[in-house]
Amino acid sequence: MCGIIGITGRLGDNIVSKVITGLEKLEYRGYDSAGIAVIANGQIERLRAVGKLQNLKNKLEDTPISGNVGIGHTRWATHGKPTEHNAHPIISETVAVVHNGIIENFRELKFDLQKEGFVFETETDTEVLAHLLQREINKGYQPSEAFKNILGLINGSYAIASIFSSLPNTIIAVKHKSPLVVGFGENICVGSDINSISAVCREVVYLEDGEYVEISANEALFFDKTFRQIFPVKQKIPLDFVNSGKGKYMNYMLKEIVEQPSTIRKTLLHNKINGEIFNGISRILILACGTSYHAGMIAKYWFEKFLKIPTDIEIASEYRYRFPIIGENILAIAITQSGETIDTLEAVEYVRKNSNSRVMAIANVKNSAISRISDFIFYTEAGAEIGVASTKAFSAQLTILANLAFYNNEFLMQEFQNLPTLCEEILGLQDKIENLAKKICSADSAIYLGRGSLYPIALEGALKLKEISYIHAEGFAAGEMKHGPIALVDDDIPVICLCPHNELFEKTSSNIQMALARGKNIIIFTDPSGDKLLSPEATKIILPQIFDEFVPILYVIPLQLLAYHTALLRGMDVDKPRNLAKSVTVE
Ligand code: G6P
Repeated sequence: MCGIIGITGRLGDNIVSKVITGLEKLEYRGYDSAGIAVIANGQIERLRAVGKLQNLKNKLEDTPISGNVGIGHTRWATHGKPTEHNAHPIISETVAVVHNGIIENFRELKFDLQKEGFVFETETDTEVLAHLLQREINKGYQPSEAFKNILGLINGSYAIASIFSSLPNTIIAVKHKSPLVVGFGENICVGSDINSISAVCREVVYLEDGEYVEISANEALFFDKTFRQIFPVKQKIPLDFVNSGKGKYMNYMLKEIVEQPSTIRKTLLHNKINGEIFNGISRILILACGTSYHAGMIAKYWFEKFLKIPTDIEIASEYRYRFPIIGENILAIAITQSGETIDTLEAVEYVRKNSNSRVMAIANVKNSAISRISDFIFYTEAGAEIGVASTKAFSAQLTILANLAFYNNEFLMQEFQNLPTLCEEILGLQDKIENLAKKICSADSAIYLGRGSLYPIALEGALKLKEISYIHAEGFAAGEMKHGPIALVDDDIPVICLCPHNELFEKTSSNIQMALARGKNIIIFTDPSGDKLLSPEATKIILPQIFDEFVPILYVIPLQLLAYHTALLRGMDVDKPRNLAKSVTVE
């Protein structure tokens, strides 16, 4: 959800290519437009381009700019269309800013600034920041004082980096509710995440909310929210989280799908669960969004069956707006790949304010915001997930959740060890799934059906398909199909059914019969025992037989592959689907 970067170099250096390298790593946060600003000969120079970063790179080749200090931005539009004039950096005379987040009171501020004669050139909320800073500079304040003066005026979430033509070797940056790190190495930098600065930095400081930093080639001066100087400890950048590129794969999504067996192995190895966390707990409350929400839905089946603890799963963006009754002895579990989804963070804050519940987090990005508001955290060992559609982080979340549910069950924990090998078998079915993709790639719409813990997998399969192929898709509980969705079934619509030979087999197979009686494009994912009993009229993909509790982790993989191959056949950019961003730091 917008990525920002700022790099300082020595006089005579040109940091433009380093800023671009940082932006390449941040593109997963948004790719509606990109821009860069540097200070050259005491003047701010800026270049912006609408669309993906490549367009900015092309522009830079035609009209190069250079400077020893620069800031860059990759945008996911919130306020103002994704046009070049709304692209960051946003300039007000002698100040340029890049911003991730939302200035919630920008309308009032804009109104006042306009009355004072400031002319707005964009529809962005960010422009008020540039003009507010410029107003302070016009009053004679130094840039750092200007910053201090305006922070009390703005509400919302922000990570901001700014340059001033009057302070040509410095970047001033501040964080509140949007992520920002400060990196140290060949250069001193600020960035939205550690990957963005990892090409030039080896050490990092994670800024806390309200903290503010001034960086130049030689030093970084840190201040807390009361503007008192602080001296945070630098940490080594964890190398296992540095994005090592696509390797032999044509895109990140395929690489990340294929990495799942090793992700599951690593996540199992690094997370030893101790049942003490459930002592005295009478209810579990799971909060999450998107794909992480689907992981939480599956956990409800597992927790209630194996831990015998009643479990609620809530869409984080809805939760705090309906005055929920939280109750006593609750364990709240936040599931979030990025650790910075604002909806999930705010839902956790709500629980914190309104109860004495303990909060556990399951996150992928180490040291992300969720780690600071949870009592304890389990990390999925998926490494950097770059593809916007989440794949390996999802199976890693399921691994931790299953581990929590089965910690006391030796048999299941033993069975768990075989799961990665079975996932590898599924990855071997790619040719078949690619053929299957041909059967759905020209559809306008698709239906996914599953029962029990495969109902959330039906939702996830549908989400993957719509995210990257733009085919409208809906997941349904198989038993619900007869209550409405069956009206959609005709000869063309693909109906994708998840039907392993488990205790729900008879029920699901009769729902499949209902679809077969009305449609011709019925696709079933089943196992060898199910295959013998299911109608030959349907197209079947046979997955390995597995103990039923692990079925969701296994069955999601072919659905990821199906969405992937369908999107490729339709010519889509699977890593950067339109309108989406990987981490959503606005409500
Ligand atoms: C965005 C992403 C989804 C993700 C969701 C929740 O919408 O595009 O892939 O599932 O955010 O993200 P989180 O980082 O909290 O898991």
